[in-house]
Amino acid sequence: MTIQHFINLSDIPAHTLHNILKTAHKMKAHKMAPDQVFYGLSLGMIFDKPSTRTRVSFEVGFKQLGGHTVVLNKNEIQLGHAETIKDTAKVLSRMVDAVMIRISDHAQVEKFAKHASVPVINALTNASHPCQIMADLMTIEEHKGKITGLNIAWLGDHNNVSKTFLEAAPIFGFTFTLSTPPALHPNGLDIKPEDAVKNADVIVTDTWASMGQEGKNLDAFWPYQVNADLMKKAKPDAIFMHCLPAHRGEEVTDAVMDGPQSVVYDEAENRLHIQKAILAWCLENTAVMAKTLPRVA
Ligand code: CP
Ligand code: NVA
Repeated sequence: MTIQHFINLSDIPAHTLHNILKTAHKMKAHKMAPDQVFYGLSLGMIFDKPSTRTRVSFEVGFKQLGGHTVVLNKNEIQLGHAETIKDTAKVLSRMVDAVMIRISDHAQVEKFAKHASVPVINALTNASHPCQIMADLMTIEEHKGKITGLNIAWLGDHNNVSKTFLEAAPIFGFTFTLSTPPALHPNGLDIKPEDAVKNADVIVTDTWASMGQEGKNLDAFWPYQVNADLMKKAKPDAIFMHCLPAHRGEEVTDAVMDGPQSVVYDEAENRLHIQKAILAWCLENTAVMAKTLPRVA
C-alpha cells in the first residue's frame, strides 16, 4: 500500500487536494468530528524550529480526533546530530502512526519519508510550507467562494510560503503575482507593488526575515510594505492575508493587520481544520484499521 505523505503539493493529485479542502470545511462546521477516527493512533511531531500555530493546530487537531501526540523539540532528540535521519525515521515508524516534521533542509524531510514506513507531513522547510497554503486556500474559499480564476498578489520576500503559492497556482487555477525585489524574483521581474495589487482579490505578505535569517538587511523590502495607502490601490473587496507571525511595522502595518480587509485570524484558525483534514487523508488506511479494533474502556 502506498504511504500517503504530505510533503509537496505537486506530488499529490489535484482532486485529493480539493477533497482535503472539502473535508476541512466539514471539520470546521462540526467543530469535532463525531467519529474519533484517530483513536489509538500516535503522531510524532518533530520541531527543529520554533512554532505556535503549527504546533497547536497539529496537537489539538490530532487529539480532537482521538489520537495522542509526542512532541520532539530540537535538542530533545538525536535527529541529525547524534543519530541519522534514516535511523530516526525507521525507529519512529515502529512507534508512531505518522510524523510531522519542521526542519530547514527540505531534502531531509524527503530523506525522512524515504526511510519511514508511516506518513510524513512537511510542517515547514526552507523551501515550502504546504500545510499553510492549504489553510490559506481554505480561507480564500470562505471569503471569496472560490479559488479558481482569482488574482493573488504577494508583496515582500520570496520565501518558503510564496514558493508554495507558486506551486499551488497551476494546481488550483489562480494567478499569482510576485512583487519582490527583482533579484529575488525567479524570472528577475520587477513588479511594482501598486501594479501587483491593482486587480488583486487577495493580498498576501510574510516576514521579510524568515526563521534562520535573523539579522538580515531589510532595506530592499520597505517599498513592499503592505500599508493603508497600498490597500487603497487594491479592489475594495480585496482581503489581506499573512501566515503569521507578523512583524508589525515592517511587512505590514497595524492599520492593515487590524483593518476590515484582514482575515489573518480566520487564516490562523483554519490551520486547525486543515491539519485534521490532511492527517485524515494521510492516515485514511491506518485510521480505518484502528476503528475496527475494540475500544478499551
Ligand atoms: N504560520 C505558521 O506556520 O506559524 P508557526 O510558525 O507559529 O507554526
Ligand atoms: N517564512 C516564515 C514562515 C513562518 C510560518 C519562516 O519560514 O519563518
